[in-house]
Amino acid sequence: MNMLNAKKRSIIAILSACTLAPIMPAYTPMVAANIVSAAEMEQVQGIDYLVLVNKTHKLPDDYEANVPLITAKNSMGREFQIERETYAHFVQLRDALLKQGIQIELDSVYRSVARQQEIVKEFTEKYGTDYVRQYVAVPGYSEHHTGLAVDICLMVDGKVIDDNDEMIAQKEIFAKIHPLLADYGFILRYLPGKENITGYSYEPWHFRYVGKDAAKEISRKGLTLEEYMTETTQQRSVSPEDARGFVVLSEIVPDIITEVRYYTTYNFVGDRIVGYEEPCVLMTREAADALKEVSDDVMSQGYRLKIYDAYRPQMAVDHFVRWAEDLGDKRMKEYFYPEVDKTRLFADGYIDAKSGHSRGSTVDLTLFDMKTGKEADMGGTFDHFGIESHPDWCGNPETMQYTGKYKGNKPPKNGEINETQFKNRMILRQAMLRHGFKPLSTEWWHFTMKNEPYPDIYFTFPPHLK
Ligand code: DAL
Ligand code: ZN
Repeated sequence: MNMLNAKKRSIIAILSACTLAPIMPAYTPMVAANIVSAAEMEQVQGIDYLVLVNKTHKLPDDYEANVPLITAKNSMGREFQIERETYAHFVQLRDALLKQGIQIELDSVYRSVARQQEIVKEFTEKYGTDYVRQYVAVPGYSEHHTGLAVDICLMVDGKVIDDNDEMIAQKEIFAKIHPLLADYGFILRYLPGKENITGYSYEPWHFRYVGKDAAKEISRKGLTLEEYMTETTQQRSVSPEDARGFVVLSEIVPDIITEVRYYTTYNFVGDRIVGYEEPCVLMTREAADALKEVSDDVMSQGYRLKIYDAYRPQMAVDHFVRWAEDLGDKRMKEYFYPEVDKTRLFADGYIDAKSGHSRGSTVDLTLFDMKTGKEADMGGTFDHFGIESHPDWCGNPETMQYTGKYKGNKPPKNGEINETQFKNRMILRQAMLRHGFKPLSTEWWHFTMKNEPYPDIYFTFPPHLK
């Protein structure tokens, strides 16, 4: 977006070396290897790379004073002020695109409040107030004040394309640029179809630096910065004792069958597990909704889902750990870990001090065959500790081909499963994958929601029906 209202300029499509003049503090140009992560920089400089500035969030009062800006030139010789990490990553993005024959240049980066005022005036005179409301922020409410927002222009056949409508028309070029943004820590800030959230029309040219981790998550989930910040803030405000985000699974998925093994003594410990005071299965609302889709899917194939476990409070995991440390207690060895030495439970990953189940979006389950009135034959049982439980036991879970071998070549020394058993595991797996769950490489019955709502919270409340 050319905020300088400049005439179209022909340029010699040679990049001048971008020169960097220090403003504050003294700046040494960075080479790629020296670029530290945004998170590290944040610690060093106190820059909030996730600052939210929009129609209802004004730029924080002390923000600009704490963000050192550097000066950079584009290939047409125009000078810009920009936050240094943002610039370092922009240069990498620009160079990566150049290798694909796409030339992008800086067009508008840091703007003072006074400069934003001038732009509002210019654009109002030229396009009217409705247009300005859609494309130009009120001074003080533009994320260009942060130094982290970059408007680019395109160079196509030696010509600068910087007019909004002309840029929006360059769909093919932007379709190649946008998928690369997250790798360099940028997000597309004003997404099409999300105008009601961002408050602005689609701007294919406006990129915002947020750091690579956040950019990757935001783009993977297709979020706006507003949605991402709501998600992370909500997560931060939820305490591990707070059960409000959870539901009783059978209320959302009435077609399930439950067999809460940890409420009973028929499990690898041999006792009721601490925390399982009631035989109920809880999950996060989001995971339960996804499991409803899985249930409908398998019902149409003649199966029901049979659930062994879902939300597991941290106190139950602590019980597993105490049991694993008590090497003399082998009451259930014959049934659940006949081939595994109890001293190997931690090293081989069967028991850990934390379990994804405590985050509330993980489930252990199998298929119940409505034709036979029995569980589908999976060639092994829930909570059997051993390689026979790996999804790649006797077949390739990616291609779903049965091989009768382990990892495609080794003879299965612990006994093979037959083709029907392998295929039954795959029916369950495919249904779970179709509806947003990811598998585990060691247990055919265990799946976690990909976009789990509380990826960092290990809940502690005991499951209750009410
Ligand atoms: N174009 C964006 C919304 C701004 O003026 O900050
Ligand atoms: Zn912009």
